[in-house]
Amino acid sequence: MDTGHVLIFDTTLRDGEQVPGCKLNTPQKIEIAEHLEMLGVDVIEAGFPISSPGDFNSVVEISKNVFEPIVCALSRGVKKDIEVAADALRYARRPRIHTGLGTSDSHIKYKFQSTRERILEWAGEAVAHAKKYVEDVEFYAEDAGRTENEYLARVCEAAIKAGATVLNIPDTTGYCLPDEYGAKIKYLVDNVRGIENVIISAHCHNDLGVATANAISAVMNGARQVECTINGIGERAGNTSLEEVAMIMKQHPRLNVTNRINSKLLNPISRLVAERMGMLVQPNKAIVGSNAFAHSSGIHQDGVIKHRETYEIIDPVDVGVDESMIVLTARSGRAALAFRLHKIGYPINKVELDMVYELFLEHADLKKEIIDEDLHSIMSDSKVTSKVEA
Ligand code: KIV
Ligand code: ZN
Repeated sequence: MDTGHVLIFDTTLRDGEQVPGCKLNTPQKIEIAEHLEMLGVDVIEAGFPISSPGDFNSVVEISKNVFEPIVCALSRGVKKDIEVAADALRYARRPRIHTGLGTSDSHIKYKFQSTRERILEWAGEAVAHAKKYVEDVEFYAEDAGRTENEYLARVCEAAIKAGATVLNIPDTTGYCLPDEYGAKIKYLVDNVRGIENVIISAHCHNDLGVATANAISAVMNGARQVECTINGIGERAGNTSLEEVAMIMKQHPRLNVTNRINSKLLNPISRLVAERMGMLVQPNKAIVGSNAFAHSSGIHQDGVIKHRETYEIIDPVDVGVDESMIVLTARSGRAALAFRLHKIGYPINKVELDMVYELFLEHADLKKEIIDEDLHSIMSDSKVTSKVEA
């Protein structure tokens, strides 16, 4: 595979924000856009301007407040949509219109009641219209995941001919398997005339839980932009998660690709998005879940206390988490108990530990988790005389 830089296209404020209950107001969107800029994303999809006056206004205001990243606005492949998107982007330093239409037989037949030939022409017309307003036009072939490759290649050629700078190949329904989606990207690389002059973008949904795997497979086959969201939020089961993509690229040098993400900001921005959207992050979510660096079984705790890398492939500090957590439950062992007691100031020896451990288990069997307060009361109930260190 060639070496290369992968652009990170964040769609938290568009695909993410269209989720029920995730609605943000304009100041909140500006705040998140500013954090996305600090994080190092290359493109911010700021909204879908024709969809509502509020969304239009958010794209205008984000355009004024973002300096380095490209600001992108979504439109259907409809003239009026494209014109409204262009208008909303008028203050953007680096504007991009993202336009397109459905290309699978299902979309052509049921959504558009049209034909493959007409959709092919329409793709070119939409891009050509957007080109009247901005130089940077990204074309999306909605439901590309279920579009026959040969036809998809013809649609891509039409979009390139009309001036598209980026080709988005969405797996809109989250249907593809990673090898299938990667093969689709490779097919386009090998068969579309002019593809070397544009960037191929992966936009994957998580209906089968493989959105991140699909995006990485696309990168391994030549995609050089990944569309993703903070915490993986998005339509239905969500989109490819930004934090996962960024860390996979960082942890696997053999992929031979780079990106501009400052990984130390991943957890802070995850919390910001979760809080502003009122959308909790599942505790076991990779990279940003509250349990992502928490160890609770005795065997794992013992290993991590001896050497962090026995059970951790990521240094928590690299993703903005202060340290790994040793959680005390009835499954914890003596090593974990001693570790936590030392941390709160009890320099306990081996004999004392045996005594306290019995008491600890009695408490732990009654509670989900033993916290520092419980440890203090266990120590005062025990016969151990170790005092809290000054
Ligand atoms: O999933 C999808 O196909 C989309 C497009 C509008 C880019 O979000
Ligand atoms: Zn999408």
